[in-house]
Amino acid sequence: MAKLPKKLELKLEKRRQDNALRVLPQPQSLIDFSSNDYLGLAQKQDLANDVSKLLKENELNPNGSSGSRLLTGNHVMYKELEDFLAKYHNSEAALVFNSGYDANIGFFSSVPQRGDIVFYDELVHASIRDGIKIGNARSYKFTHNDMEKLSKVIERSRNDLDEDAEIYIVTESVFSMDGDTPDLKALAQFCSENNYHLIVDEAHALGVFGEGKGLISQLGLEKEIFARIITFGKALGSHGAAVLCSNALKRYLVNFARSLIYTTALSPHTIASVLVAYSYMMKNGGIQRKKLRFNIDYFKERIRTLEIQDNFINSDSAIHCLILSGNKKVKQLSEQLQEAGFDVKPILSPTVKEGEERLRFCLHSYNTKEEIANLLQIVKTYI
Ligand SMILES: Cc1ncc(COP(=O)(O)O)c(C=O)c1O
Repeated sequence: MAKLPKKLELKLEKRRQDNALRVLPQPQSLIDFSSNDYLGLAQKQDLANDVSKLLKENELNPNGSSGSRLLTGNHVMYKELEDFLAKYHNSEAALVFNSGYDANIGFFSSVPQRGDIVFYDELVHASIRDGIKIGNARSYKFTHNDMEKLSKVIERSRNDLDEDAEIYIVTESVFSMDGDTPDLKALAQFCSENNYHLIVDEAHALGVFGEGKGLISQLGLEKEIFARIITFGKALGSHGAAVLCSNALKRYLVNFARSLIYTTALSPHTIASVLVAYSYMMKNGGIQRKKLRFNIDYFKERIRTLEIQDNFINSDSAIHCLILSGNKKVKQLSEQLQEAGFDVKPILSPTVKEGEERLRFCLHSYNTKEEIANLLQIVKTYI
């Protein structure tokens, strides 16, 4: 095989030295405290059976979609799903993308224009940052969940603002690497008072909050938000994503979001699996969410009892993070937990800032009280 160019070799070597080399893990049968399958839907055999039935009923291609959505890939299941999503999520329209990564790339690279400004929470997902980087608008980050700092950053940039500049503000309703939440009501009010466009990524709130509909729905803010990003690979246990927005914005994205246009559409099977997952969630999601909520509350109660709560980021979501500065330390504890049978992943720098390396505990409806208690006991002895 051809030799890796020297510059790339050096970058890998630097990763090795920093204890930050990423490798693809082998599947393990450990107790799951790391997947995004918050409600256990990814594992349900009856859902898989319903997907096959739905495909047969609709006489759909069981395999690929055969082309881009703008060519041959826009099979009938797309319309069914998008109509459903718009209604269910109380949005004018919905546009399905192949993944949350694609949705964010497509949205942020095409919507903010040259002369516009995007203000983004410093901890937003890599896909949002990548999308912004591809686009032509200027961008500034603001301190995590800090509205005062946001106002100040906007104020500072006011001098060099074009007259017709649009301002976009982007955050997540549940932060993927912290599990915490901004003051969405205040943020929505601030944006509507100032005519700014607020975009909220709901990847980790869908299925968990608002009877499954997300935090924006729980707070009744649907009409205040310019666009919501929802993803189906997490609590829905499937794959893909959607932008919830106005009809006009959907029309724009269909014309300009390159990650929608220049890629093969999702297969009928994937879209059917999203429809089936929603249908399951509407029928049985309440029970799964109750179990998940019990586990979240129990986890929080245990860390308080063990007096280790100060080492955790305060969170009410399914994601709980223990900050343990240094890649070496987080890797060590993660290995100890894995040896004891628990799958807990270390989040290393550069994925998070140096000094803020962490263990990320994802809780699920199917974790047990005993599992949580035993897991936290090990954590307690380590820190
Ligand atoms: C906040 C957030 N947005 C978007 C994505 C990307 O979603 P997907 O996995 O569907 O590409 C993720 C996934 O990690 C995420 O955490």
